[in-house]
Amino acid sequence: MDKTVLVTGGAGYIGSHTAVALLERGHRVVIADNLANSSAEAVVTVRRLTGREVAFHQIDLTDEDALDEVFAEHPIESVIHFAGLKAVGESVTAPLAYYRANLISTLNLLNRMQHRDVRKLVFSSSATVYGDPEQLPITESARTGATNPYGRTKLMIEEICRDLAASDPRWRISLLRYFNPVGAHPSGEMGEDPLGVPNNLVPYVMQVAVGRRDRMRVFGADWDTPDGSGVRDYIHVLDLAEGHLAALEHLESGCEVFNLGTGRGASVFEVIKTTENVSGRSIPFEVVGRRDGDIATSLADPSKANEALEWRADRNLEVMLRDAWNWQSRHPNGYADKVGDDVDVPTPTPPD
Ligand code: NAD
Ligand code: UD1
Repeated sequence: MDKTVLVTGGAGYIGSHTAVALLERGHRVVIADNLANSSAEAVVTVRRLTGREVAFHQIDLTDEDALDEVFAEHPIESVIHFAGLKAVGESVTAPLAYYRANLISTLNLLNRMQHRDVRKLVFSSSATVYGDPEQLPITESARTGATNPYGRTKLMIEEICRDLAASDPRWRISLLRYFNPVGAHPSGEMGEDPLGVPNNLVPYVMQVAVGRRDRMRVFGADWDTPDGSGVRDYIHVLDLAEGHLAALEHLESGCEVFNLGTGRGASVFEVIKTTENVSGRSIPFEVVGRRDGDIATSLADPSKANEALEWRADRNLEVMLRDAWNWQSRHPNGYADKVGDDVDVPTPTPPD
């Protein structure tokens, strides 16, 4: 295997782990990222962990000319498209920024791909497109309906991809609906590094464990779930990264959608308890009211991906939280703690 894959958003949380998985599988990787929500240190870390060269272009995908230069410079064969904004609350207060960042970027990318005769795409969609599900576990045929601008950008991009694939059978597109990605690279050198106050449970609980924050707020203990707290299908970011490899290797003519999850649920209280076990720290928490827009349970039926992609997410909650803790405890302030090790991120001329 020796193919050049463009990874948009490859400096981000899921993109950086997927870049490592691609390089370990023998692919060449080109990263395009504007670093709006990430650090150049992540690219340095990808290189260090793999001992491989990685071309890095700090560009904004809303700039189509800059994007075209990336295609002109590298023999790109396929694209994994992670780049985008992802904070649900922010998308409600700044919808235009979200539509611009996510839709214009994707239109530019698809346009450049078509122009350059590159028609293999794996796209980061989200379980958020299912809204409040009618049935559990959730299959790909479940009704969709996003409840916020972020989710609507995902649904719109899915539709754009379907229309494109219908227009020309040379397109091979996989839309991956991730459930709740958590965890970190087992080396402890790469992980999730949210800017500001984390919105999501696992980064928040890790910051409490490491002493950056006082206590957890549990958003409701009166849900219709076994212990009253919200239940989610957490998936280790390495399993997710491997899901992208599988999707890339199984691309077929047309546009297919896949759930990437474990099919197992964990509650907020289970996440707190397991974090206490793996970290040896106590996690103070208080139960507060429900968060706007939350749902009781989200759980994937991943059987379509298990069969068609010959892929399965096997790492359990303890492994997810152990790896997240390993990263957080070594780097309490995320990539900011690594700056200075090697801050220069040159854009090397690739060997092709
Ligand atoms: P992330 O923010 O860590 O990574 C996204 C990357 O895209 C960042 O490095 C950011 O700098 C870059 N980016 C944003 N806008 C850009 C632009 N206009 N041009 C170039 N680069 C740009 O997020 P992540 O958690 O790694 O998520 C990756 C993708 O997966 C996103 O599309 C997200 O919506 C989707 N997703 C994430 C989750 C999750 O819980 N993390 C769940 C479902 C789907
Ligand atoms: C988030 C995203 C959603 C995305 C999904 C999968 C938000 C608002 N929603 O939702 O768009 O599809 O991840 O990646 O970001 N919780 C607490 N206290 C906290 C934080 C969370 O109790 O401080 C609870 C929540 O109520 C929920 C669970 O923990 O029950 C998980 O929350 P979170 O990590 O934000 O994920 P989602 O709610 O699934």
